[in-house]
Amino acid sequence: MASGTSRDVVGRGLRVLGRAIREQPRIFAVAVTGSVLFGLMVIASAYVVGGVVGKVVVPAVARGSVTDGALALAAAALFGISVLRVVGIFGRRLGAGYMQYRLQATYRRRVTRRYLDLPLAWHHRNATGTLLSNANSDVEAAWYPIAPLPFAVGTLVMLVGAVVSLFLTDWALALVGLAVFPALFALNVVYSRRMAPRQARAQRLRAEVSGIAHESFDGALVVKTMGREAQETARFAARAGDLRDALISVGRLRGVFDPMLETLPSLGTLAVLVVGAIRLRQGAITVTELVSVAFLFTVLAFPVRAIGWVLAELPRSVAGWDRVRRVLDATGEMPYGEVAFDPATPAPATLAFHDVHFGYEPAEAHLPGTEVLGEVTFTVPAGKTVALVGPTGAGKSTIASLAVRLVDPRTGTVTLDGVDVRELTAASLASTVALVAQVPFVFDDTVRANIALDRPGIGDEEVWAALRLAEADGFVAALPEGLDTMVGERGTSLSGGQRQRLTLARALAGRPRLLVLDDATSAVDPRVEAAILAGLRAPADGGAPASILVVAYRRATIALADEVIYVEHGRVVARGTHTDLLATVPGYADLVTAYEQAEQEREQTRTYDEVTPLTSGLEVEVDR
Ligand SMILES: Nc1ncnc2c1ncn2[C@@H]1O[C@H](COP(=O)(O)OP(=O)(O)O)[C@@H](O)[C@H]1O
Ligand SMILES: [Mg+2]
Repeated sequence: MASGTSRDVVGRGLRVLGRAIREQPRIFAVAVTGSVLFGLMVIASAYVVGGVVGKVVVPAVARGSVTDGALALAAAALFGISVLRVVGIFGRRLGAGYMQYRLQATYRRRVTRRYLDLPLAWHHRNATGTLLSNANSDVEAAWYPIAPLPFAVGTLVMLVGAVVSLFLTDWALALVGLAVFPALFALNVVYSRRMAPRQARAQRLRAEVSGIAHESFDGALVVKTMGREAQETARFAARAGDLRDALISVGRLRGVFDPMLETLPSLGTLAVLVVGAIRLRQGAITVTELVSVAFLFTVLAFPVRAIGWVLAELPRSVAGWDRVRRVLDATGEMPYGEVAFDPATPAPATLAFHDVHFGYEPAEAHLPGTEVLGEVTFTVPAGKTVALVGPTGAGKSTIASLAVRLVDPRTGTVTLDGVDVRELTAASLASTVALVAQVPFVFDDTVRANIALDRPGIGDEEVWAALRLAEADGFVAALPEGLDTMVGERGTSLSGGQRQRLTLARALAGRPRLLVLDDATSAVDPRVEAAILAGLRAPADGGAPASILVVAYRRATIALADEVIYVEHGRVVARGTHTDLLATVPGYADLVTAYEQAEQEREQTRTYDEVTPLTSGLEVEVDR
């Protein structure tokens, strides 16, 4: 285990806190100032109480009457101290709260921002549930100790002040303080060291429980149709049970240490009274001093706990921070280049692959990565349509990802208008190419928002034009609130084919110069699919057609392409027109025929646009 010893944990935890202070130095200063003010007022109050007892109460008891002046002075002093204490508490609480929640918000933003910057390869290796808990509970855990931190720092100052004032009062009483305060401190340290592994384990289990829950909700359809409910429940129950045990062991440790931490200061007060009584008899101290010191021990007991709170939260903070840092420090994001296309160019782009080799990163670093694509070379000339055909697993989706630069080749180049895509700026790339993925993703928002995505220059007119091109204007117009209709989480209120056409319209609304369709219309009626493609190739408004790379299976769709590229096992096996390939490549003919038969059977059992959505749309945020 990399977590090392608990001594490390305290050291590393303090470094995490140091980072927090460097990020929010001013607010921290406010909080600590408040806390120190509070601490000094606590000490002052002890001495005022002592003074009241020694100078007012005792003489009054002796004399049988109270001097009004002295009493009024004492009352005024106590009142003033109380006001300053309140101000101190206010400053500390406000500062600590600001600091903690600001840090949480900042780091949540940084983590989620990082997710978007990291390449797909990284996302493939990390479960969604873990990412959720990184952004949620891990960020929170990392900054938990911030809440009691200013209190603890103020308390340290207060302890030093207390010991100094003890020495000024009487060396014997000071020695009692020197015995009790460090003992309290030591007890707190032992406590937090024991707590370290337990808290770390609980935090890890929280993430695992959230991961399992997320996975089984996400796969609710599979779980249900395969009758896996019992196994999934058992898997979840086992982890939830582990989490319960871990939390109980945390609670048990609290149960043992909390009473000890309560008792020690009381023992200190007892020792003060015993030693103080002796010193009083010796005439070394006055009643005022004895009462002051005894009172000091009682009021110090509570703040000292703040140091314990910080130390006890450190392990959790370190565990959370390590997981947050893993995301923030993750590398592999794709640097963009400097070349920008003229945004005014409406002409279709030319896409070219030159001897591209590609392999996915292995799931674990020590495993060899296998090559998924090799020697892939082809061109989609400007304004032309190229169909990519091949059996499942041949590498079609991978080629589509490379074309829009979701991933980069191991060797070889992908170029747009002769420029290596790695040389392009992010904005140029985004405005030039659009990918419509195999699995449509729809945001839980209105139809309009899903298509426009807040991109400049896309108003209702452009949205409707895109919907028309995607053959989606009909069903959108028929929706109860048209463009304002909410589509539900993951588009659950739409059929599979409708969602596909919506995501297609989204891509078209940006007027890409190269459109990459990865089996993007598979749930759309074949005739409609062909009509969409025909419309894209020859726009009704007479504008230039986009270049299109389309992964397709249907004969009618493929037949529209200017060229067909046939891939098998990550290699381009043949290329030519549909008719040529049918005649000369047996594998190609078999594939197209087999797909056609499957389609016919499919069509007999259901109509395309009434397909039940495949993803359940269930997604629950579990770990809070
Ligand atoms: N994220 C991934 N990690 C590892 N291997 C992958 C990943 N995605 C696809 N592959 C593998 O790459 C090969 C090509 O996949 P893909 O491009 O999706 O094929 P197609 O779209 O033609 O069905 C397959 O062997 C597949 O198992
Ligand atoms: Mg695919």
